[in-house]
Amino acid sequence: MIVPRSHEHCLLSTYEWTGVHPPSLKVRIETFLAGVQEGKTPHLLLSGSTGIGKTHVGIGAYRRTVGSISPACIWLNVPQFCDRLQESPGGALWRDYERATRLVVLDDLFGREAVAQDQIVARLLDTAYLNNAALLVTMCDGVQELSARMSRHAITRLLADATIIPMRA
Ligand SMILES: Nc1ncnc2c1ncn2[C@@H]1O[C@H](COP(=O)(O)OP(=O)(O)OP(=O)(O)O)[C@@H](O)[C@H]1O
Ligand SMILES: [Mg+2]
Repeated sequence: MIVPRSHEHCLLSTYEWTGVHPPSLKVRIETFLAGVQEGKTPHLLLSGSTGIGKTHVGIGAYRRTVGSISPACIWLNVPQFCDRLQESPGGALWRDYERATRLVVLDDLFGREAVAQDQIVARLLDTAYLNNAALLVTMCDGVQELSARMSRHAITRLLADATIIPMRA
């Protein structure tokens, strides 16, 4: 999925890390990406209120990585992916997704209230898990909200070995 024009400026180098909590955020993102380069499969969850820069950091991480492992690397905004599936339910979108065996960045995991979307989220997480891909997820909700949206099975897969970083100003 192409990064939207609204976020074209988003690189790790254009993110202002100072003042954003936790102060270890930058180091943790760098450690995550180093792991991806080494073929490890770390999982990272960024949560936090709107505008804190979760999408910015996710896109920055994707862009840092995509050049060296494309097409085994994908960034997608989950609500937009769901909309596009409705427009063209054929397999092309899923085929691209299934090729991402090294890094999957899922932006705004529960960006919209919809049962149909929850099923797509479950399939996105399942596929990344089966592909043994590293996963970077951004979401507004805190982890404690997940049980309202996901099955215990899906939560286990999402949180297995995940580093959870609540971001705040
Ligand atoms: N610390 C920062 N340094 C540089 N730009 C930032 C920072 N925080 C936010 N921004 C900018 O603010 C805008 C909003 O950030 P972003 O879309 O990443 O927020 P978000 O946490 O994903 O919000 P939402 O939950 O609404 O999706 C973007 O243009 C982003 O580049
Ligand atoms: Mg966002």
